[in-house]
Parts: sequence; C-alpha cells; structure tokens
Amino acid sequence: MNLSRVTILFLAILFQETLFLAMGDREFIENTCKGTPSYNLCLSILLANPKSQDANLTGLALIVVDAVKNEGVKTLQQIHALKKSLPELTATLMQCGDVYNTIMHVNVPLTINALNLGNPKFGEDGMADTTIESQTCERSFKEHGQTSPLTNMNKDMEDVANVARAIIRMLL
Ligand SMILES: *[C@@H]1O[C@H](CO)[C@@H](O)[C@H](O)[C@H]1NC(C)=O
Repeated sequence: MNLSRVTILFLAILFQETLFLAMGDREFIENTCKGTPSYNLCLSILLANPKSQDANLTGLALIVVDAVKNEGVKTLQQIHALKKSLPELTATLMQCGDVYNTIMHVNVPLTINALNLGNPKFGEDGMADTTIESQTCERSFKEHGQTSPLTNMNKDMEDVANVARAIIRMLL
C-alpha cells in the first residue's frame, strides 16, 4: 500500500517534470522563432525534428541548417529532372546546378563546421551567401528571357536560409 503510494507520487512528479520540461522547450523554441523572419516556417521545421526538444540555440541552428540541406537535395533533384523535361532550359538549369552545388558543398558544410567550432560569424556568412545563391539561380532565368520553373523552390531555400541566419545571429 505504502509502496504503491510512493510509486504513484514518484510517477506523478516525474510526469509533471517531464511536462514542465517539454513546455520549457516549447517556449524556448517559440521565442527563438519569434526572432526570425518566418515564425511559422521556423516552428514547423523545429517541431518536426525531435532533436529540438533538448537542443540549445546552436542545436536549433543546426536543425534549420539541416533543413537548408534538405531543400538543396530536393532542388538539385528537380533541376536534374527538369533538364530532361525542359531541354530548352538546359543551359540555365546547369547554372542553377552550379549554384545549388555551391550551397551543398561549400555553404552548408562551412556553416555546420562554424557552428560546431563555436564560430557563428562564418556560419552567418554561409547562410547569407545561400540566400544570394538562390536569388542568382532565379535571376538567371530572367536574364535569359525564360520563365523560371524553380521560383517556389528558390523562394523556399531563401526563406529557410534566412531563418537559419537569424538564429545564428542570436549566437553572435
Ligand atoms: C549546445 O549544443 C551543441 C550542439 O548540439 C553542443 O555541441 C554544445 O556543447 C552545447 N553547448 C552548451 C553550452 O551546452
């Protein structure tokens, strides 16, 4: 009887602490996202990743950089597919391929290293350049008098990179 009461009490406290911790994490995530240009996007990225639950600010930044990487993978796949379906756009798509390869092979690893080494300034530069790269891809269609088939993806990349950049700025 006594034992089970103690057990219940113990479990109740444990449950409550877990609950409070979870609420604290949620508040931390929400407050962090309030400092970014896209609150809803930021929240959806962070809440979709279970690692955000006990992450500090650096950890949250790394999760959003990971989302930048996912956008890059998706966009490169789309560029590859479009070269086949829209061969008349091949030259411009190849320029965009270069741009997205720079994001994937230079900017993202640079930012991850910078965050892991506690050097957020370089991380901010990596994400700032990522937004410029996605705009470069978008603009190259206009320069060739073509309609961009990547407008949404370029915009998504820009938005996610700007969220990452804003979180990294909080570390400076
Ligand atoms: C914050 O999180 C990062 C990455 O998850 C970790 O490497 C670092 O040690 C943490 N910093 C502190 C002060 O806990």
